[in-house]
Amino acid sequence: MNGEFDGTHDAWRSAMGTVCVAGPESARAVLGNRDAIVDEASDFYRTRHGDFGPREAQIRIGRAARVLMRRHLNTRRSELPGLVAGYLAPSAVWPDAGNLLVLRHLRDVLLHPDAPPQLHATVGQIVHRAVLAGARHRHSPPSRLLFRRRAQNVLHTEIRARQQQLDPARDARDLLDVVVGESDPGSDPKDLAEVYLSFLFATVGSVGFALGWSVYLLGTHPDCQAAEPSWTVREALRLWPVAWLFARTPSHAQTLGGAEVTPRDLLAVCTYLVHRHPMYWERPDEFVPERWAGAVPDGAYLPFGHGPHTCAGATVTMRLLEDLVELITRDWRLSVIQDGAGPQVGPALAPPRFTAVLSPRSDCPGRR
Ligand code: HEM
Repeated sequence: MNGEFDGTHDAWRSAMGTVCVAGPESARAVLGNRDAIVDEASDFYRTRHGDFGPREAQIRIGRAARVLMRRHLNTRRSELPGLVAGYLAPSAVWPDAGNLLVLRHLRDVLLHPDAPPQLHATVGQIVHRAVLAGARHRHSPPSRLLFRRRAQNVLHTEIRARQQQLDPARDARDLLDVVVGESDPGSDPKDLAEVYLSFLFATVGSVGFALGWSVYLLGTHPDCQAAEPSWTVREALRLWPVAWLFARTPSHAQTLGGAEVTPRDLLAVCTYLVHRHPMYWERPDEFVPERWAGAVPDGAYLPFGHGPHTCAGATVTMRLLEDLVELITRDWRLSVIQDGAGPQVGPALAPPRFTAVLSPRSDCPGRR
């Protein structure tokens, strides 16, 4: 099958030669990889030198990161109302506002407060120059190149220092400790820096964008502002899955979703299409948070991936997003001013630029 997606085929070859996978069953077969139909891979752990490994280290890192995040969210939850008021009210320009709020809330998980000031500054600059939607276009290519080299130097120096001072008895202070402490001894600091950057993109980038989509959709659908926060977040991640494209390579020649593929092909599993598949979803293109009150086609919902490489941060992410959406809709009246731009499509699917206005609810705050 060649050409464009017609809404019914599970897989087809695009004009660029990539094989797009849009059928829920084929998508799960590829990502779950139970029958070893693709080469083992994780987009999260992909580095310039191939996938970071071994797999045991990937698993250890994912688990330790989740524990650290959960602990942080538990102890710092009370900060959230102040951050919402400070970062989002009375008005803010999104999606950057969401990313910066998340950066502030997770600052100490990303880097412990006593980490070198130069490293703190570098991480802040990476967010502004590479994580925010459209950030890469805000600087010229030579300036980006220079910055990348300087940032890498700072990160590599810190990683080497932490490798030398490693104390297995000490709890991880931040995600950089997690990456250094749970990787195999002798791991290349360059690879560890890339894994750390994956965490930076996942936390500040993906979580911030997912919050942005929820706020954007609530602001453009005022009738839905009373919906359960968990329905809103799920529905926003269905319509606009931040992680919308997964790359995999077939391990052998086979038929996949009706398309003939070989190890020379690149598979692109597209959750944006899976989540809008008309055979699985009613009113697939509409924002309907209430659909989550009833039974939903779970097998056609993969915002955090599927199978062995499913997101290690999925539960902590959902909790943070639900807490934030609850605070925003409970304490504030939300309206959105659009400037007509479309979604910002990159490795992550970010919302369009928009302004959100938050006014305190005049009726008893804290209640609807
Ligand atoms: C809205 C926010 C997020 C989204 C949409 C998201 C999505 C995903 C997806 C789709 C994968 C699977 C990639 C693949 O199969 O190739 C993944 C993997 C991963 N994510 Fe997330 N993620 C988010 C936030 C986070 C956070 C906050 C953390 C931090 C704990 C995290 C840690 C990880 C890790 C460690 C993996 C690798 C799992 C493995 O290969 O074993 N993610 N994420």
